[in-house]
Amino acid sequence: MAALDIALFDLVAEDGAALPPFSAGSHVDVFLPNGLVRQYSLCNDPVESHRYQIAVLKDAGGRGGSCAMHGAVHLGDALSISAPKNHFPLAHAAESSLLLAGGIGITPLLCMAERLSAIGQPFSMHYCARSSERMAFVERIRGARFAEQVAFHFDDGAAEQKLDIPGLLQTPASGVHLYTCGPKGFMDAVLSAARQAGWPEHQLHSEFFSAEPIRKADDGGFEVQLASSGRVIPVAADQSVAAALAAAGVPVATSCEQGVCGTCLTRVLEGEPDHRDMYLTPDEQAAYNQFLPCCSRSRSARLVLDL
Ligand code: FES
Repeated sequence: MAALDIALFDLVAEDGAALPPFSAGSHVDVFLPNGLVRQYSLCNDPVESHRYQIAVLKDAGGRGGSCAMHGAVHLGDALSISAPKNHFPLAHAAESSLLLAGGIGITPLLCMAERLSAIGQPFSMHYCARSSERMAFVERIRGARFAEQVAFHFDDGAAEQKLDIPGLLQTPASGVHLYTCGPKGFMDAVLSAARQAGWPEHQLHSEFFSAEPIRKADDGGFEVQLASSGRVIPVAADQSVAAALAAAGVPVATSCEQGVCGTCLTRVLEGEPDHRDMYLTPDEQAAYNQFLPCCSRSRSARLVLDL
């Protein structure tokens, strides 16, 4: 255990071989014993090749992934995982970086801190948690070469140590890139404060762990057409596009089914998607040429998909 309700796992190759390299911000898909697939950010130093390290917050109200990791996976068990993928990379153009972590969202940002420190690029990190007992990696950070660049904040602590997000972000500077990860409320607060202060979108980087499905009272049915065959598949008002495609025998690969992981990303050739994901940037969403069929819908009567 790395903190209250946070379990730390070292994943090593069964034969002890070196693992494929990864960059800061990467995650792996973990195939759980109960059949679920979950994404976990790698939190070790990316120079390491002998292990991938992940930290998992137990969420008793979740959909079963974290509870399986806490209850059904034991030291020495074999797990299948994907190769590392990175949807949350460091921007090479950054002159300096600001890392804002909420709770378990420290995992990809800790890896970024290791990397930025190793390449001598300026950064500072703010790490917020509900309480000290829920804060993982404190000793590791205090012992790191970048310890002085990290400030800790506790929800249950004195008012003066709490993070003033709007105050911190009030003056955007060109060349400073902001990275945030954590619970949705924390990230929404960070991103909305940054946007209100005028931070350009290309300087904002975020990765959501989970999202609540967005349902609207006037959600109706629509059609999707497969560009390869011309086949038209109806999507019912209470059905996702991914579910309609699977029912029609043309499943797209899915994982989170919440619009956060990007696994189901599909090109849109015609029509206007109604984006409901947390994965695409606002600019990518506005291009209307791709969408996440696990959660997003359609504003037009038909979407033609590159399938
Ligand atoms: S399955 Fe994760 S975004 Fe669609």
